[in-house]
Amino acid sequence: MTRISHDDLSWDEWDELVRPTPETTDFDRVVEAGLSRRGFLGGLVAFGSGAAAMGLGSGVSLMNSTSARAQEAGRFAFNPIPIATDATVHVPEGYTWDILVKWGDRLFSDALDFDHETGGDARTSDRVFGENTDGMELFAVGDRQVIAVNHEYANPKINLPHTEDGKPQSAEDVRKMQNLQGVTVMEVEEGDGGWNVVVDSPLNRRITHNTAMRLAGPAAGHDLLKTDADPSGTTSLGTFNNCGAGRTPWGTYLTCEENFNGYFGSTDANFERPEDFKRYGISLESRYDYEKFDERFDISRNVNEPRRCGYIVEIDPSDPSSTPVKRTALGRFKHENAACTLARDGRVVVYMGDDERGEFLYKYVSNGAYTPGASTDGLLDDGTLFVAKFNEDGSGEWLALTAETTGMSLAEVCMFTRMAASKVGATTMDRPEWVAVNPVAVEAYCALTNNKNRAVKPNAGGDETPVNGPNPRAQNHYGQIVRWYPENDDHVDPKFKWDLFVMAGNPDVHEDAYAGSQNINSGNMFNSPDGMMFDTTGLLWIQTDGDDDNEGDFAGMGNNQMLVGDPATGRIERFMTVPYGAEVTGIAWSADKRTLFVGVQHPKAPFPDGEGMLARSAVVAVKRADNARIG
Ligand code: FEO
Ligand code: CA
Ligand code: CA
Repeated sequence: MTRISHDDLSWDEWDELVRPTPETTDFDRVVEAGLSRRGFLGGLVAFGSGAAAMGLGSGVSLMNSTSARAQEAGRFAFNPIPIATDATVHVPEGYTWDILVKWGDRLFSDALDFDHETGGDARTSDRVFGENTDGMELFAVGDRQVIAVNHEYANPKINLPHTEDGKPQSAEDVRKMQNLQGVTVMEVEEGDGGWNVVVDSPLNRRITHNTAMRLAGPAAGHDLLKTDADPSGTTSLGTFNNCGAGRTPWGTYLTCEENFNGYFGSTDANFERPEDFKRYGISLESRYDYEKFDERFDISRNVNEPRRCGYIVEIDPSDPSSTPVKRTALGRFKHENAACTLARDGRVVVYMGDDERGEFLYKYVSNGAYTPGASTDGLLDDGTLFVAKFNEDGSGEWLALTAETTGMSLAEVCMFTRMAASKVGATTMDRPEWVAVNPVAVEAYCALTNNKNRAVKPNAGGDETPVNGPNPRAQNHYGQIVRWYPENDDHVDPKFKWDLFVMAGNPDVHEDAYAGSQNINSGNMFNSPDGMMFDTTGLLWIQTDGDDDNEGDFAGMGNNQMLVGDPATGRIERFMTVPYGAEVTGIAWSADKRTLFVGVQHPKAPFPDGEGMLARSAVVAVKRADNARIG
């Protein structure tokens, strides 16, 4: 079998190669999808008058560039910046940026110096800031500020330069890769010279692929979660492919396990994978070859181990000795982030995307209500999972995933959530990435990053993926942001109305739906929205992880970027650009809201240390020159 090079592929591309989704063979289905796409385009031409009838609400139809320009003096406290194609970060005039921390920086003084030849010493690889920064949150712990931040993946070719093609040759090689991923919890402080990590703070912590975790919720203790090392099925080691994040109302961090499947492989080439492995993309070949040196990752010996991953993990950032908890009640899939809010009666609502082509958008609702200061036990363990169904008329509903609706036990729903969602007929989506909840209006947004398989292939479970209301373009390579308004202004209501806040596109290249919605123009275009978060004023910060070659369909979009959107007007403007090759992911505010922390992941440009040095992911601190609030 041809070996797949690690580093030349994104996680997504790797997944496609190792475990391609079923090919479409039904010619009629393709024709039908094409017809419905033309139907949609017809509606789009009449944008403004026919938009609502097409399932596109008034939000989109209001967003023509003329009215957006009229808002020039509105809520945006910056002059938008042009695209960039260079190797550095750009922010608007009157703003500054600086590096807070980069991969390999010390969290503890006993860590060895970063080494640009090797990516750092394996021996202290769990004492430094990990690689490929992703979702993050800032917490005030007493008068200290603590950032919890994910490290989504590590780059074997760079970190194991003595190996061929980054394939580990020893348990020590595997351990280095395991150490550089997971989560960092670190105290940060602002001094005269800017922001710094507080090295050796008692709050600093690294959580890796080997940190002890507790499994909680309906699936905990189930036979399919038991292993020889953990016959109880209630304890596991490590958290994997930590992508987006979230925070609870009670001040804990939620880290989300996304492409966990890539860590598992088989030393037995003839191992027969159980059916559920196929839906989750767990194959005989892993991405890191852990299984050759760490038996836990060998599915032929530990078939249940991958079933203990793919969850949301709760971490207490104020207590470095606390045991992280895998919350099985929030379901098992390729979790992007966790957007928490409270219902009118105090029940906890968590919105969550499953980032794979044609997978679903979920909501968890706790049974109990949150009361500040009272026990939070059970709030993320006892509740109901729902999956979104979008109707073409702009309405939608949350379908409960229960024993009655799925024919599965509650534990099975929590372990095999994708299958449960397929059974109830949820709407297949264009790769749901981050969800963001507006703090000043009862509405939520989800970035649907792109989906080249829309109207081309079913998802991994065989669910059809024809174009549909919130996913209106076949072979969608630009992405869109869908928003929904819960009925009765309550996030627990089972019904909602929806529209598209924006369809990304390129109006310089296309004249049809691929030009984007009317709030996209030559000056603000982008592709592949991904990270998203609201600030306290109700402005939406949008981060991209897209094609940055600036050619063809993507001409004029430049490097990946962060934009700000105004839900009230639809106006979207560019705030930041990052070095080529990097995505922007992860956003958090300082306690005083005068600093914005932003993650720069996987730069290819020689950033931030310059030519001849390894490119390193980093968190940057953005400020206004006059030290005013940012959001
Ligand atoms: Fe890790 Fe879907 O982004
Ligand atoms: Ca992402
Ligand atoms: Ca992405």
